[in-house]
Amino acid sequence: MNIYEIIRLLRIGILIFLIASIFNVSILAINKINKGSRNSREKILINEGWRFYKYNSIEEADSLIYDVRPELKENQDGKPADAEPTEAEKILITKFVLKPWILPTGNEFIKDSSKHYIRPKGNPGENFPFVKLNYDDSKWELINLPHDWAIKGPFLKNNDKEVGGGMGRLPSPGVAWYRKKIFIPKEDSNKCIYLEIEGAMSYAMVWLNGHLVGGWPYGYASWYLNLTPYIKFGEDNQLAIRLDNPPASSRWYPGGGIYRNVWLIKTNSIHVANWGTFITTKNVINNSADINIEIIINNHSKKNEKVKVITEIFSLEGKKKKKIAELKPVETTIINQKKTKIESSITIKNPKLWGPPPTQFPNLYVAITKLFVENKLVDTYETKFGIRSIKFNPDSGIFVNGERIEIKGVNLHHDLGALGAAFNLKAALRQLKLLREMGCNAIRTAHNPPAPEFLELTDSLGFLVVDEIFDVWERKKTPLDFHLIFPEWHEQDLRAFIRRDRNHPSVIMWSLGNEVGEQYTGEDGAAIGKRLNDIAKEEDPTRPTTASMNYAKPDMPFPKVFDVISLNYQGEGIRDAEEYKDLQGIKTPPLYSAFHKAFPDKLILSSENAAAVSSRGTYIFPVTKSISAPVKDGLGGDPKNLYVSAYELYTAPFGSSADKVFATLDKHPFVAGGFVWSGWDYLGEPTPYYSARSSYFGIIDLAGFKKDRFYLYQSYWRPEIPMAHILPHWNWKESTGKIIPVHVFTSGDEAELFLNGKSLGRKSKARYEYRLRWDDVVYEPGELKVVAYKNGKLWAEDIVRTAGAPVQLKLETDDKIIKADGKDLAFITVKIEDDKENVCPLADNLIKFSIEGPGEIIATDNGNPADLTPFPSHQRRAFNGLALVIVRSMKDKEGIIRIKAESEFLKSSVLEIKCKKVKYSD
Ligand code: GAL
Repeated sequence: MNIYEIIRLLRIGILIFLIASIFNVSILAINKINKGSRNSREKILINEGWRFYKYNSIEEADSLIYDVRPELKENQDGKPADAEPTEAEKILITKFVLKPWILPTGNEFIKDSSKHYIRPKGNPGENFPFVKLNYDDSKWELINLPHDWAIKGPFLKNNDKEVGGGMGRLPSPGVAWYRKKIFIPKEDSNKCIYLEIEGAMSYAMVWLNGHLVGGWPYGYASWYLNLTPYIKFGEDNQLAIRLDNPPASSRWYPGGGIYRNVWLIKTNSIHVANWGTFITTKNVINNSADINIEIIINNHSKKNEKVKVITEIFSLEGKKKKKIAELKPVETTIINQKKTKIESSITIKNPKLWGPPPTQFPNLYVAITKLFVENKLVDTYETKFGIRSIKFNPDSGIFVNGERIEIKGVNLHHDLGALGAAFNLKAALRQLKLLREMGCNAIRTAHNPPAPEFLELTDSLGFLVVDEIFDVWERKKTPLDFHLIFPEWHEQDLRAFIRRDRNHPSVIMWSLGNEVGEQYTGEDGAAIGKRLNDIAKEEDPTRPTTASMNYAKPDMPFPKVFDVISLNYQGEGIRDAEEYKDLQGIKTPPLYSAFHKAFPDKLILSSENAAAVSSRGTYIFPVTKSISAPVKDGLGGDPKNLYVSAYELYTAPFGSSADKVFATLDKHPFVAGGFVWSGWDYLGEPTPYYSARSSYFGIIDLAGFKKDRFYLYQSYWRPEIPMAHILPHWNWKESTGKIIPVHVFTSGDEAELFLNGKSLGRKSKARYEYRLRWDDVVYEPGELKVVAYKNGKLWAEDIVRTAGAPVQLKLETDDKIIKADGKDLAFITVKIEDDKENVCPLADNLIKFSIEGPGEIIATDNGNPADLTPFPSHQRRAFNGLALVIVRSMKDKEGIIRIKAESEFLKSSVLEIKCKKVKYSD
């Protein structure tokens, strides 16, 4: 190891340490269950001990349906992502449906009260056994939430119209029930009791003690119900939740089940409404900031009440809270059975601003609002927030606290790979940590609201977030997607989404849609956009809106509607470069300048770019000479093994390689930056091979291993970090004497390549070039070394050696100590090595895992999109030398977990992980 490597490792080490300290703090803050004093509010996580039952097929399911759905006709799996969305089908309601009882749940989010839904008489489902207290569910599966019923598989290998590669080949469609008894003590009989569900996929309907209370169809929404009228105080109360996840409902893996947290919230009759605060900051300068808080107060009592409202502001430093201000108390009368809005402001001196690292720090505050009736505390409500100024300049991009921040963003889907849709904080943290290491500073939540805890993480880590709500509006992309409910639910979904998320400093923009079909329908489509835009502005006048466009052009009505122009692929041009010209589909020349000219007052953002594809560590020959080419069988694509070459030059038909994207952004400095499609691989959408299970788009594979592309982005996004990365690996026994192109990604500007000590020449990057290529290297085994320079000075090195035969396994983890909370995870990498500890880049040995101690193996993976071994399997083949094991702690069980990996002919490996109880202090 030379001095540069040591410096590089030290720098990475310091960065990881800094990040880790932020993460620890944030995890502690998030994991805390907010149990208030008995005279105030209690927010109780009720994730444990649910009973679960799923029907074997949709035909077998009960008839308690939300609505009738159109019949599934054709198989649309593998339809190009940018195909034109089509008109909704007309459906005749021929059956008894429960929708009229569910729609009133959203009334709170419909502004015009004359449009509120009135609950019909009757109580559908009351005689159905599953909703009854005395139903014996002891044979149902006992599970804890968050739960994804589909992730365990098996993978569906057929090509059917219900679920194919697009939806990840996993059994997410279906009808299922969740049941749980909740005891509500007598002392609570004056309380209001709410159920908050952060995400249930999908068409949730909730019964309590046999009464249909309500529900919410959109699977990505967070929502809540007032259970109070149906509660039996001093007794067990039976919750029964029915979900119905349609087939062909998504272009990616949606997951199935109650896949996020569920809370029981108990309040007094006078209380702050759920998501009922809105904090805005104005006039943010270095030594002062104006803070305004709006608070909605509910009065569910029988009389008007005089209330005193006191809000105190605390800075959050690690685990410590420090009071820094108290807003002027507000005294007001709250009318019974009404909502009352109050407002209060204060100027804070010397605020600690929230901003993105590495140049800024994500400082956070919490506002604690207390309600008093006759001097008695009746409610306490906490709102975390940050103080920051953010400016959107159409000519020069985004400025956070006066500093221009280039958006170095990625798109992320909601799934967590082998863990599926079930949210897990540690897994999300792992995603963000690796992205940060690459230099990423922004996330677009493609194409739906994320888990609330995800935004807690982006707040505490300082990522900028484009918070997106919909992938479709009225026109459909798949036969049974969200378009079925858009007409009746868009307002409730949008208002609920913004109210939930508008205090997060990391959220910088609302995205109201992705590549929606309404781009194609002229003024009609724009009118729908306008309606959504108006709603968004009513809920949050402070943040800009956008909707991503892959089709709308500057002269069309659609782009006029939103504040920010978000372009998917159109900036670089779609199917326009020579290599793409013969392809069918949308064709567009590069459009950044045309949009800038047509909308000189609007910021332009690249909301999706690249859509490059690759299988980690797989290289296919010949290699295109171009800087970007569509993947085809034989050109970048191996249809037999379902692999795509990792030379990182190949893309979806509408995409552009990273190199081409960088050049286009650099030539258009008015563009605020962009979001790569995609940061991590995700389940479903396995373009170009739909018989696989997961995508090829990620910069990081599904198991969390870095593809070569990771280093290309790092070289561009973190030019100050000395680094160089060689590809491909150097094990080409069959190709001795043949040409194997060698490419290098470096943050330097020149480099010299050596093969077995012989120089193959020094090359430098020309303007708008982002990789160095030696395309005519004649293969001989041995050592390939690159020495990179920056401004003429030695900058970084990388070495790749021909590995010998596989001899041993090695287990490694960063998670050596985990919490004994039944949720914390250790991500363990398994490497197959030769006798000199080189990873064997072609090894695909079958590995068997076993475990002892207070932990369980919950999933294994290897990042190969074509591996259809179920995720919970304790045996898995390595993919190009690597595999992953995910271990979960057990609740309250401390001790040492020993994980063993074994494989025929290889030396096995054992790893020990400590599992410790953690106390969460207030
Ligand atoms: C875009 C779409 C994304 C994803 C991507 C790659 O058109 O917005 O959701 O499908 O293509 O296929």
